[in-house]
Amino acid sequence: MSLGYEKEGRIAIFTLNRPEALNALNPEVVAELSQALIDFKDNDELWVGIITGTGDKAFCAGADIKTMLPILKKTRGQPWFEPPHIMKGLKLWKPLIAAVNGAALGGGFELTLACDLRIASENATFGVPEVNLGLIPGWGGTQRLPRVIPWAKAAELLLTGRPIDAQEAYRIGLVNKVVPLAELMPTAKKMAELLCRPAPIAVQAAKQAMIQGTSLSLTEGLELEKQLEDFLVTTQDFEEGCKAFIEKRKAEFKAR
Ligand code: CAA
Repeated sequence: MSLGYEKEGRIAIFTLNRPEALNALNPEVVAELSQALIDFKDNDELWVGIITGTGDKAFCAGADIKTMLPILKKTRGQPWFEPPHIMKGLKLWKPLIAAVNGAALGGGFELTLACDLRIASENATFGVPEVNLGLIPGWGGTQRLPRVIPWAKAAELLLTGRPIDAQEAYRIGLVNKVVPLAELMPTAKKMAELLCRPAPIAVQAAKQAMIQGTSLSLTEGLELEKQLEDFLVTTQDFEEGCKAFIEKRKAEFKAR
């Protein structure tokens, strides 16, 4: 399999596994990733996902230049040919952490941008080199990057194709933490456990409000926030959260 998909308690771990091609995304991996993400989305027992790559060199070197990019030309002008995934077409409100274990380039960087939190190993690099191939990022890079980091920095990366290292990524707010490679997965799992503590439906609503809010006016965004809040007050977890606070104990959330 070119994708590992493991479940550890409430946490799903997706591992890109094509080290011979620096974990580049070919049509098979994209299909496997899509299927695994849909399984994760539909599984009420799983609350948080971690996406990482095999090896100590690359998280993912992007779309597979040999097999993926030729399809772009063949399917030009036609509806999007891939199954839905988080970069395009799949709405997934469960939180996702990218554990970036090396180079995250092109579509690999874009995959991390479709996650909510990014933890980088010290050897990680981030770049959108598509302009060097005569292309632009096709998995959301032009749209998500300027929403994640300051405009001038996004423009520098997108227009030059120049990669940055993990420390620079941390300085500009692209990644949440930089850790030694050996600490990467333990740190990502600790972060995932932290995300499993609050009420899962509320966490998902917060993510939904943030993401959908970026394409709404402030008035529409506030309306969306109200709709989600109106729903959350009907959940058992809301009752439990308030009760636990008053009883001075840890809440036991059930995602209901
Ligand atoms: N697609 C297919 N194969 C890739 C690949 C990619 N994106 N990136 C690396 N590989 C393969 C190489 O061809 C090589 O295979 P062979 O041994 O069979 O020749 C193997 O992985 C190792 O790569 P290198 O020998 O190049 O390793 P390096 O250490 O010298 O360089 C690198 C590492 C800087 C990451 C370099 O491999 C590189 O620049 N890769 C391409 C990165 C890129 O341009 N990504 C954007 C892709 S386009 C895209 O993603 C479009 C989109 O938005 C959807």
